[in-house]
Amino acid sequence: MAKQYIYIVQALLEPSKCKIGKTNDLERRLNEYNKMTGKSKENIYQYLFTCEVKNMTELENDIKEKYSILREEKSKEIYFYNSELFKQYVTFIQAHKMFVKEIFIKTDDKKQIVKIVKRTTPSLEERGISRKEVLQKAQKINNDEFYTKFEDIEKELSMYDKSIWKNKTVFCNCDDAVDDNRKNTSAFALYFLQNFKELELKKLICTHYSGPVDLFNQGAKGYVFTKEGFREFKEFPKNYTGSFDDPLSLKILNEDADIVCTNPPFSRAIDYWEITIKSGKQFIIISNITNPITPAFIPYFMNNEVWAGYNRVDYFFNPKKQLVDASGHWYTNIPIKDRPKYKNLKIIPLNDIPEKYKKYDDANKLVVSNCYIPNDYKKPFAVSARPILNGLLEKGYKIILNTQYFPYENGKKCFGKVLVQKI
Ligand SMILES: C[S@@+](CC[C@H](N)C(=O)[O-])C[C@H]1O[C@@H](n2cnc3c(N)ncnc32)[C@H](O)[C@@H]1O
Repeated sequence: MAKQYIYIVQALLEPSKCKIGKTNDLERRLNEYNKMTGKSKENIYQYLFTCEVKNMTELENDIKEKYSILREEKSKEIYFYNSELFKQYVTFIQAHKMFVKEIFIKTDDKKQIVKIVKRTTPSLEERGISRKEVLQKAQKINNDEFYTKFEDIEKELSMYDKSIWKNKTVFCNCDDAVDDNRKNTSAFALYFLQNFKELELKKLICTHYSGPVDLFNQGAKGYVFTKEGFREFKEFPKNYTGSFDDPLSLKILNEDADIVCTNPPFSRAIDYWEITIKSGKQFIIISNITNPITPAFIPYFMNNEVWAGYNRVDYFFNPKKQLVDASGHWYTNIPIKDRPKYKNLKIIPLNDIPEKYKKYDDANKLVVSNCYIPNDYKKPFAVSARPILNGLLEKGYKIILNTQYFPYENGKKCFGKVLVQKI
């Protein structure tokens, strides 16, 4: 009796679709696909998964029924594809009573077809830029290329009520690639792709910034990746840079996005905060841990337009995928419930604060440290960023100076602080 097979096949140029079918001859079937279809010669079909089964018709019918909503309306043969859906198809087939054995399954390490294109490199002069400009750009990129670990995103986002995501459009506007095999995908994009259903998201939009590959002003290559329901697609709008302040990114921010979530470039943090906060949208973002005592950001904390998220972030990946330390913290304008770090605040009478943690500076201003906070002191006093990150402003205190405060001790300038006062 002829052998029976179930397969998942995909055309190279149609990565958001696949076909699931049955056959008695895998090789012949693939040849048929490659002869009869294809938008171009390059649109080659390849198997993603094949297996031997006892009854291909029964199994195929069960797949059709189980995944009816993942089939295209017109061509019932076409199923939506992304790596999460692929895993689901394969798991279902493997667990089916008619499954016999796997023959082939696609691994993540797809062979890359590399075209060698002969080209001559234009000189800096031809590109109209100086060596200094290139070096400056490269320097900026180095400072910005810190990638967030998946675990850090999971740790922070799992703290928020799941309902905040329901039917919402999440915008990751500094999140480089959504790579086909997900290997080079930003952990933010990956987190939302993997949890899309669980969080009941409406849409995910990630934008790819062309900057890092544009050291030599070769032109904009930014793109917009969108996932809406089961559909995933990438668009490369003309002249789009992918920068968070590109007109198209601003349009998405203002007209489409509900919640912005990313780790933006440290070197552009001031502009990024201004744009994001002005948009009035909800956000959960990573930024420098010292922002609560940095002049450009203090007014946002003072005006209650932003507050600390739950966690600090101490390690990031560099482009070589090595862990590097850089002191980051989550910030948000979404309500924080029972902030666990309140317990780090030691709010007690001034007299009970140990001497070494309370001082008066040359201007006779009280300066407290180690998260000690007086609860019976009516005048302004200076604190570091830590109490603010631990939720001091939610405990009946306010910032009263919209810039940094530098205490002087015996004429010596000390670390910058922020001035707060009991309400
Ligand atoms: C701190 S990294 C974080 C990347 C990613 N969001 C993550 O968390 O892994 C900031 C990224 O923003 C990119 N970037 C730099 N300038 C940008 C801009 N103007 N608009 C959007 N992204 C930018 C950098 O290339 C870098 O990849």
